[in-house]
Amino acid sequence: MPFPYVLLSAAVSLDGFLDDTGPERLLLSGPADFDRVDAVRASVDAILIGAGTIRADNPRLLVNAAERRAARVAAGRPEYPLKVAVSGSGDLDPDARFWHTGGEKVLYTTDEGAERARRAGVAADVVPLGPGLDWPALLSHLYEARGVRRLMVEGGGTVHSQLLRQGLADELQLVVAPLLVGDPGAPRLFGPGEYQRGRLRLLETRRIEDVVLMRYEPTAPGSGPTAVAADRHWLRIACELAVRCPPSRTAFSVGAVVVAADGTELARGFSREAGDPVVHAEEAALAKIDPADPRLAAATVYSSLEPCARRASRPAPCARLILDAGVRRVVTAWREPDTFVAGADGSGLLTAAGADVVVLPEYGAEAREPNRHLLG
Ligand SMILES: NC(=O)c1ccc[n+]([C@@H]2O[C@H](COP(=O)([O-])OP(=O)(O)OC[C@H]3O[C@@H](n4cnc5c(N)ncnc54)[C@H](OP(=O)(O)O)[C@@H]3O)[C@@H](O)[C@H]2O)c1
Repeated sequence: MPFPYVLLSAAVSLDGFLDDTGPERLLLSGPADFDRVDAVRASVDAILIGAGTIRADNPRLLVNAAERRAARVAAGRPEYPLKVAVSGSGDLDPDARFWHTGGEKVLYTTDEGAERARRAGVAADVVPLGPGLDWPALLSHLYEARGVRRLMVEGGGTVHSQLLRQGLADELQLVVAPLLVGDPGAPRLFGPGEYQRGRLRLLETRRIEDVVLMRYEPTAPGSGPTAVAADRHWLRIACELAVRCPPSRTAFSVGAVVVAADGTELARGFSREAGDPVVHAEEAALAKIDPADPRLAAATVYSSLEPCARRASRPAPCARLILDAGVRRVVTAWREPDTFVAGADGSGLLTAAGADVVVLPEYGAEAREPNRHLLG
């Protein structure tokens, strides 16, 4: 299921609160950061918030700068990003500003919530997702039915926590403001619960007046057959590596990365790397790792093309090398076509041996691109 790129955006106090318990919204950033947020809003296809934020803040969620809206229109996009609200209960104030400002709105809710929201006259496209609210279904619907490729999530804490816990966040943009709230009843950015393992990767820090912006991305692979946002991140890197392969008319160009369960990159490789005319990407990457490395057992191999099942150039195909290395999870973008080997089924070989193979076909075009000359 392809999903949009999901960017979580929030401002917090030094003690990790999103707000205080007063009736007015606590302003954590200053004008320069609000302007940065406005630019991020202008860059995305949709902005999502939870019903709790609509109730607490009554926000408009607009792109405020006229020149940014004009640039969107000039680029053939709607003046405002799609506004997306999430509510289980459907218990929403139809007069809230969210519904009466900006462009199109969509409300994702439950079957029961949809009835209640429609009865109340909420001015939005109301989409029921069943008896409960299912985040993958919601993201998939935004991607398929609404064409959303970049989604900005502006809170609150309940929504942010769920997306991060379920491995659905591609990036976190966090602003830390120099004040303390100290009220245990105030909402926190991330509530207690089971989050993915490992450290997030720090992409950027930036001082903006007296606040600090930090951008992070999750790196820990998913487990089993379920893909998380970090899986897409690593598979994109594998596809980028495929572009670096020395060209060939007799073999595919493939990139591969091996990543430990905590998100540590163990090795990467690509076809025909370092002057070896027959080395495959997975083989090149695995050769750089100590076979006794205990992290291999829980590692994931990302390969732009499914690992080969048969090859003439070396005794063992890559699917076998992966299994022999102890790896039991592979993420790939593209099943091997019959170009060189008829009926190659590296995924079958891997799954028959108990490994999980996750295919993310939304990266297939990227994986095929450096092989276009072979595909006729
Ligand atoms: N500082 C910042 O950057 C920032 C940004 C945004 C918000 N905030 C603050 O955050 C606070 C609000 O946060 P919050 O955590 O209370 O609310 P929230 O995350 O905005 O919304 C939570 C609501 O969303 C719906 N929801 C979310 N996940 C659901 C699921 N899996 N199933 C069913 N319904 C689901 C539920 O709506 P129903 O109750 O309708 O079922 C739930 O009560 C406010 O104080 C606001 O000021 C701060």
